[in-house]
Formats: sequence, structure tokens, C-alpha cells
Amino acid sequence: MRDDVTAREIERFGTDGFLVLEGFVDPARCAALRARAEALVAAFDADGHRAVFTTNEQERRTDDYFLDSGDQIRFFFEEDAFDAAGQLRRDKACSINKIGHALHDLDPEFDAFSRTAALCALVRALGIEAPLLMQSMYIFKQPFIGGEVRCHQDSTFLHTTPERMVGLWFALEDARTDNGCLWAIPGGHRDGLKQRFVRAGRRTRFEVLDDRPWDEGQLVPLEVKQGDLIVLDGLLPHMSHANRSPTSRHAYTLHVVCATSAYPASNWLQRATPARGF
Ligand code: FE2
Repeated sequence: MRDDVTAREIERFGTDGFLVLEGFVDPARCAALRARAEALVAAFDADGHRAVFTTNEQERRTDDYFLDSGDQIRFFFEEDAFDAAGQLRRDKACSINKIGHALHDLDPEFDAFSRTAALCALVRALGIEAPLLMQSMYIFKQPFIGGEVRCHQDSTFLHTTPERMVGLWFALEDARTDNGCLWAIPGGHRDGLKQRFVRAGRRTRFEVLDDRPWDEGQLVPLEVKQGDLIVLDGLLPHMSHANRSPTSRHAYTLHVVCATSAYPASNWLQRATPARGF
């Protein structure tokens, strides 16, 4: 992994709300993480849980399996994974949308990948002086059925006061416009938080803070190579289109909050054990 971030890169992150660090992870580490994710999926009992990750955030289904996944390793299917009879259309390994949300705490391979001196130095340089690893996701963006993720801000789901959170998006495979790469609105992080996804007991809802729509004409594609790292300000508007190509687009994401910011009990993601740092 790279172990430095330049003053120019820090400045660009402040201006754009994102940063692409090319070649941050070497290909062998990417391959090892992919192999580990595939092993976890192989061991998962697909008949036991049929949770779907709906890519339309407004319709996000909330159930116990999702609500209690903050400190667990759980598996969520693509919306199009099942046929009308509720059977998987294709192999389980090609049907999972993502694994979340505490791979970094519970799986040794993901723990080692996530907790490095280089990442700790990077997030500190970007203003997270007391980092806590709050959430991890392994995102498959499966060939043909990888669902769209509409324009959103990650701080909607991991709000802190003051707002201070970064997302680390590791490309484990090349991400291009044809297989569902990220798109983002440069500078859009400076426009404030639009909504919060809050929980009240066992229910969740979106709380609208600003109903002005984003100008999605300003979205730019962030095409990256395997091993590149995209750092996202929690307030940056971003999205990805459906993957209708024959090529998967695996990514691993980590969301890092700051211990000096308050983490409200109304955030959907709550943990029985406190989040830890690097
Ligand atoms: Fe996101």
C-alpha cells in the first residue's frame, strides 16, 4: 500500500470532495480479498436468509436481518437475483449484492486489510484525527444484475455531529462506465446534507433536511483500475448505474468516523460493541 498523501491531494480532496489514489493496493492483496469474500459466500446458507438489498434508497427494506447487521457479517442479495417463484436465477456466488457491515472486525483477512498504518495516516491527514472504523461492505456489482445505486450521500446513513466521515472505496477490479463505476458531483459535498436515514426502535425512515434535488448533469464518472482507492467525503453526492455488462465490479468499502464527533443513537447502524480504530 502507498503510505503518503501529498499536500496537493489533501487540497484537491477539500475542493472536490473525493480523491483517487492510483495503485494504492497491490494486485495480490486485491486478489486475496476477493478470494476471502468468495469463501465467505460459499459458506453462507442462502436458504436461511433471503434478504434483498434494494438499490432504491427510498424503498430500502428494513428488517431485523438488516437492522442488526451493524456488528455482524451478513449477506444481501441483488434485487434481480430471484425469479417469480422466489428461486435464485443463477448460482449464489453470482447473486449476492453485498456483504456487510463488520467484516473489518470479525474476519481476520478483512481486519488485516482494513487496519494498516497507511490508511490510518491517510484518514488523519484528511481531518479524521481520532478515527473509528464504523462500517465495511464488500460490494459485488454482479454481471448482468448488479443494481443501480441512486445518488446519495454516505453521511445520510452515518451522520455525525459535527459532520465528519470519510468513505474508502477500494477497487478490487477495474471499474468502468460499462460495469457500473462510481459517479460523483465534484464539490457537491459543500452543499450540506440532504437527508438522514434514522431508526426509531425497530423502524427506519428518511428525514428530509433539504429537498432541493441534485443537478445530476454534474455527475462525472470515476473510472478506476484494480488497486486504486477512491476516498469520498461523507457529504459527497455519488451514485452508480446498474451493471448490465458480463464483467463484475467488486469493491470493498470502509467508512471511518471521528471519535470527537457525536454518533447519534438515531443512526440506523448501532453496534453492541463499540467501533474501534486502526
Ligand atoms: Fe455510497
